[in-house]
Amino acid sequence: MKTNVWKINPMRVDAHMDEINQAAYLLQQQEVVAFPTETVYGLGADATSEQAVHRIFEAKGRPSDNPLIVHVAESSQVENLVTDIPESAKKMMASFMPGPLTIVLESNGTCAKNVTAGLSTVAVRIPDHPVALALLKASEVPLAAPSANRSGRPSPTTADHVYQDLNGRIAGLIDGGPTGVGLESTVVDCTSDMPVILRPGGITRQQIEDAIGAVMVDPALASTEEKPKSPGMKYTHYAPEAPLWLVDGSDEFFIDQLRNLERDGKRIGIIASNELADQLPQRRVIACGSRNNLKEVAVHLYSALREFKKADVDIILGEAFSEEGYGEAIMNRLQKAAVKKLNQF
Ligand code: TXA
Ligand code: MG
Repeated sequence: MKTNVWKINPMRVDAHMDEINQAAYLLQQQEVVAFPTETVYGLGADATSEQAVHRIFEAKGRPSDNPLIVHVAESSQVENLVTDIPESAKKMMASFMPGPLTIVLESNGTCAKNVTAGLSTVAVRIPDHPVALALLKASEVPLAAPSANRSGRPSPTTADHVYQDLNGRIAGLIDGGPTGVGLESTVVDCTSDMPVILRPGGITRQQIEDAIGAVMVDPALASTEEKPKSPGMKYTHYAPEAPLWLVDGSDEFFIDQLRNLERDGKRIGIIASNELADQLPQRRVIACGSRNNLKEVAVHLYSALREFKKADVDIILGEAFSEEGYGEAIMNRLQKAAVKKLNQF
């Protein structure tokens, strides 16, 4: 299949309505099209068409029991997909939509059944990105859209990442430049009395609690024993080409581990904060940002995970970050991407 690529300046979407309409036309023909959102690139298809949604699963190689997030352009369209919107969800919608938040509500059956993978609930979000919003409006359908990576790979934060994974497997790709947040949306289940965070992401737990009061966190996020409520959370995820080892300890501990591996002849790639990277001149190191600015680290994390190639490194050593604020989402992704952990304490 030929993948059409359109380049669009997100600040000037109105000058690119031809391209948006071409992409929307493909979506209406049940094809899949990748597009930028404020979090990561999504792979969109008409959420009301089982055939179109099936093509998402095929293109990604995604397990069919992992449900998709449905994207709409306006909060009034959320009502068309669900049986009811509880008070907590209304408050979150008012505070964070459009934005990097996904709410799980009881589905009214409007979406194709493979979107929800047999669950009675549906996950909905309004992306805060001019290209995504223009595409949603032009296609006139809700769009099911997982992250636009091959299943198991780090999510794409540039069109080039999407191209590497999906060229030839999808009908279209809108290149709107790099995404902003860098990590996926926070997924919150609003079907019980107290909302439950199923996946940490672009809206922090603190931000949600400031808006609606106490929330719970899916116990599966903290333990490998619990079965996650969000089906997608149980699969291998975000895996770089070379094995990632996560190092949790002081900078001295990190450097010791690095030297031991180098002594054994291993070629090491490093993903670290600016502060640690500064202590490692002449090493293969990607600095993601200051450890005092985890929002910046989030922006660069996925491209760092894609950067090191198997041909060049045997092992990637990743620095563990604080789990405060955005760190909760960063560490959730790093823990999942890692095959091994080296803990000082
Ligand atoms: O930022 C994002 O959320 C991106 C952009 C493209 O919008 N999308 C994204 O989709 O990350 P995906 O498919 O990679 O992750 C969706 C997550 C999965 O963990 C899935 O299991 C969960 O949301 N999910 C979807 N529907 C659900 C439901 N009804 N109940 C519980 N979890 C659900
Ligand atoms: Mg994903």
